[in-house]
Amino acid sequence: MIRYITAGESHGPSLTGIVEGVPAGLPLTEDEIATHLVRRQQGYGRGGRMAFEKDFATISSGLRFGKTMGGPIAMSMPNRAFEKDDAGWPTVMNKKEEAEGIEKITLPRPGHADLVGAQKYKFDDIRPVIERSSARETAMRVACCSIAREFLKHFGIEIGGHVLRIGSVGFEGWDEVRSIADPLAEHGAEAIYKAADESDVRCLDEELSEQMREEIKVRRKEGSSLGGIYEIVITGLPVGLGSYVHWDRKLDGQLAQAIMSTQAMKGVEIGLGFEAGHRPGHEVHDEITYEENDFKRRSNRMGGIEGGMSTGMPIILRGVMKPIPTMLNPLSTVDMKTKEETETRYERSDVCALPRAVVVAESVLAPVLANAFLEKFGGDSIEDIEANVKAATQ
Ligand SMILES: Cc1cc2nc3c(=O)[nH]c(=O)nc-3n(C[C@H](O)[C@H](O)[C@H](O)COP(=O)(O)O)c2cc1C
Repeated sequence: MIRYITAGESHGPSLTGIVEGVPAGLPLTEDEIATHLVRRQQGYGRGGRMAFEKDFATISSGLRFGKTMGGPIAMSMPNRAFEKDDAGWPTVMNKKEEAEGIEKITLPRPGHADLVGAQKYKFDDIRPVIERSSARETAMRVACCSIAREFLKHFGIEIGGHVLRIGSVGFEGWDEVRSIADPLAEHGAEAIYKAADESDVRCLDEELSEQMREEIKVRRKEGSSLGGIYEIVITGLPVGLGSYVHWDRKLDGQLAQAIMSTQAMKGVEIGLGFEAGHRPGHEVHDEITYEENDFKRRSNRMGGIEGGMSTGMPIILRGVMKPIPTMLNPLSTVDMKTKEETETRYERSDVCALPRAVVVAESVLAPVLANAFLEKFGGDSIEDIEANVKAATQ
């Protein structure tokens, strides 16, 4: 089973990641990982950091002659912010000694991890909470998950995401989205992300993209922030990944956990999701047919999962991201030191990180799907797994 762990602080010297359980013999390059790292950095509504942040994960173990060896894969990614010493990060993040004159951060931002994190770990300075809770960590998460993504791709399973809504601007309903996304998904879900990447808000509709940019501009001007809703499509899945037999083996539950473990995510839907609660059953369930020697469904409103198992149709998952908590326009808070009511102070921040978060969401699903695949067809090497897949489909 593939497991990964990340380490590192937002303004520390580097992020580190270890991915364990990747079968031997998977072709892998640092450049493939960089594809998604670069995508994670692109999008309208970014803050200042992005101008100097050029992420690249260097692999230091687990790879030989361009293929995995079955052992843990270790990666490291420098934080350019740390290297640019003008902000004094080596002093602020000093491992050894507490330097004189380093200001403690005592104004917790509503909606961030600041207050609860400081209460939980008994800090009188919010800095350590900011450093680890910040979404900078998602850069290494994307790197780790990209390896699982390459594994899936080797077996024809593709993941692609796009933005459905930013604030008040978005698609009207399920059918409208399907008419645009489904024809792309027929070429594999990567066609969805490639088309979405053409837009700097990662929306498949040009007119909506323009309106989304306007919405971001307006909220930026008023010093506020925005979240939104995105959709991830996964194609090429065989029937029966996951299982109905036990709660923790249900694929939908596992996918939802991966999304909800990501910074700022507040909800997940599979298929019609919440809209299913507004419709009668005959407008929800996907009728079964038998064509060309196979079971098919007339629609995919269940989003490719029934009974916690993949149906063989594309998985369609939606997630909602809340607006960024750091805003130019302050909110009321309390100084942790003086206990006096005051206002938050602005730190450099994104206005809307949703276009970038889509890449994170695509990524975190990959290890879940890779593990479900390995559970069914698992082996120590790619060769073993290929043989298992072949045997199962003959
Ligand atoms: C890609 C991405 C970028 C983010 N950028 C920022 C940011 O610039 N400023 C900020 O305050 N929060 C940002 N967030 C959200 C915070 O990381 C998140 O709200 C915080 O860690 C608290 O966690 P929670 O929202 O899950 O409760 C970002 C999240 C993601 C996924």
